[in-house]
Amino acid sequence: MKQNITRKVLQSHLIEGKMVAGEEISIKIDQTLTQDATGTMAYLSFEALGLPKVRTEVSVSYVDHNTLQAGFENADDHAFLQTISEKYGIYYSRPGNGICHQVHSERFAVPGKTLLGSDSHTPTSSALGMIAIGAGGMSVAMAMAGQPFPLVMPKVINVKLTGKLYPGVAAKDIILELLKRMTVKNGVGKIIEYTGPGVETLSIPERCTITNMGAELGVTTSIFPSDDITYEFMKAQGREKDWKELKADEDAEYDELIEINLDELGPLVAKPHMPDKVVPVKEVNDIKVSQVFIGSCTNASYLDLAKAAAILDGKSVHKDVSLSISPGSKQVFEMIARDGILLKLISAGARILESACGPCVGIGQAPQSEGVSLRTNNRNFIGRSGTKDAKVYLASPEVAAASAITGVITDPRDIEDIDLDAIQVIKEPEERILDDRMIVAPKENTEDVVIKRGPNIQPLPLREALEEEINTAVLIKVGDDITTDDIMPAGAKILPLRSNVPAISQYVFNGIDPTFPKRAKENNGGIVVAAENYGQGSSREHAALAPMYLGVKAVLAKSFARIHHDNLINYGILPLRFKDKNDYERINQGDILVIKNVQKQVNNGEFVIVNETQGFEINAYATLSDRQKEVITSGGQLNYIKKLL
Ligand code: F3S
Repeated sequence: MKQNITRKVLQSHLIEGKMVAGEEISIKIDQTLTQDATGTMAYLSFEALGLPKVRTEVSVSYVDHNTLQAGFENADDHAFLQTISEKYGIYYSRPGNGICHQVHSERFAVPGKTLLGSDSHTPTSSALGMIAIGAGGMSVAMAMAGQPFPLVMPKVINVKLTGKLYPGVAAKDIILELLKRMTVKNGVGKIIEYTGPGVETLSIPERCTITNMGAELGVTTSIFPSDDITYEFMKAQGREKDWKELKADEDAEYDELIEINLDELGPLVAKPHMPDKVVPVKEVNDIKVSQVFIGSCTNASYLDLAKAAAILDGKSVHKDVSLSISPGSKQVFEMIARDGILLKLISAGARILESACGPCVGIGQAPQSEGVSLRTNNRNFIGRSGTKDAKVYLASPEVAAASAITGVITDPRDIEDIDLDAIQVIKEPEERILDDRMIVAPKENTEDVVIKRGPNIQPLPLREALEEEINTAVLIKVGDDITTDDIMPAGAKILPLRSNVPAISQYVFNGIDPTFPKRAKENNGGIVVAAENYGQGSSREHAALAPMYLGVKAVLAKSFARIHHDNLINYGILPLRFKDKNDYERINQGDILVIKNVQKQVNNGEFVIVNETQGFEINAYATLSDRQKEVITSGGQLNYIKKLL
């Protein structure tokens, strides 16, 4: 079979399974990354395994999310992350060094390698020809321990790019076009591979914008070939020795084909509140904006900021607009300062923020009430900006800069005195500023390293092995589409408690039923009953970990969202489904449910649950692979892996 790039990289890392779409395979992971919001938990999990060092080629701990230090909690987390990195042979990218995906692409990504990161936009680094996948912190901890990463072999989609982008049209418009066509639903179980002559017209930062927002399509990852452009980028980064060519065999086979002619694209914008609500800018160009943000892991490269600055050069930000800009990395920040780009931005009236996620994740710069914010980010969900009734639009840096000048959403081609032809040919500088002093490299001898644990760093709770009989009450009965946010809310008050499970667990189901944690503790745990699509939304593993801490033994639902289903198993909570969905109606909160011979039923995948209170039986089932059965039996992933090591 003629091989595509995806299959070549997966084949060279295959540990177990057949590479047939839909079958479970496991692959060797070469590199890992974490960011601070998920990293503390990943490292606590790794530490619990008792290994002296990580077993990956490269592991990097980034601090880019919670960089605000209004209380001691975030600073405590940073000190913990720095010292635990030092202890276990992990690179530590200090706060201020930049957003994980930007820095990883610049300093660590290697064609042909695999990367697992505890952040959903980890696939950004696949722009350099690697397989980079986002996962939960527990999975990353397992990869750091040298364990193979299990995944369902995805279908490979060929997105063939032809033509060339016109001036004023950007890489962001390519991925927005794909979101318009595929929507946020149709990427699940797929990897996108970009092919065709249009690929050669795109620089690495442009490719990164595209692979970054593959996460919004729901794909496992998106990969570009490793070609001369990749070589030049890596050479400019002083890393050409790590480069190797990677291309698909001629006539390589794919499961699907999507063609995009770049000549036909114009500037696009995603309307509130979904990244796939994409329309041409011209359709919304009378909408007033009160805020523009240029930044995030999607669009904060040198190229992005240089193009925005060229549009803003000699002009002023509109009096009713706040323009904030956050360079993607220290390297980008230093180079825009060196090349006069920063001056143009400041002079036009931009407010410059540190190199971090910031407004993208609702940390700072919340828009005004009912405000319209135009952003270069990848997500525009309700409330993510920090203002519940704000409307967030997503677009390219060119559209963002043009709109900041006019005060309404603007197609840059409609501003007369901007030389878009000259802007379109702006390139990344050949001479980069390479200074890794903000990255603390691992050292050989780490015996004396003492891990700093402030009061916010609490040990990771573990569950006991599976009990033979579950005899407990229904603690809560919830409806359809419960999100991980509903189960474990985030927000400025709760998020800093993420490394303190006893404290954060007091907020489980806070928005639905604030008495839940107290009831769970008094009852010594229990069962959650839910309807369809339980645990949808972000991959937040605290939505499984905190209920586990409160003693939740099982969730009995009509159906589950995929990642949350895995997270429940990882933390030893049985994910059970109704055989007859009508049984959902027959159960009440407070009913006592009994499951006997639990181990036998786990092995069969079929369950009989007795409702002792009302005196009837419910049939249920669990979809578990052999490995997952063992994980559940052990009381969770950590206990399971400990047995293997
Ligand atoms: Fe950070 Fe936003 Fe990307 S939170 S990692 S900049 S999606």
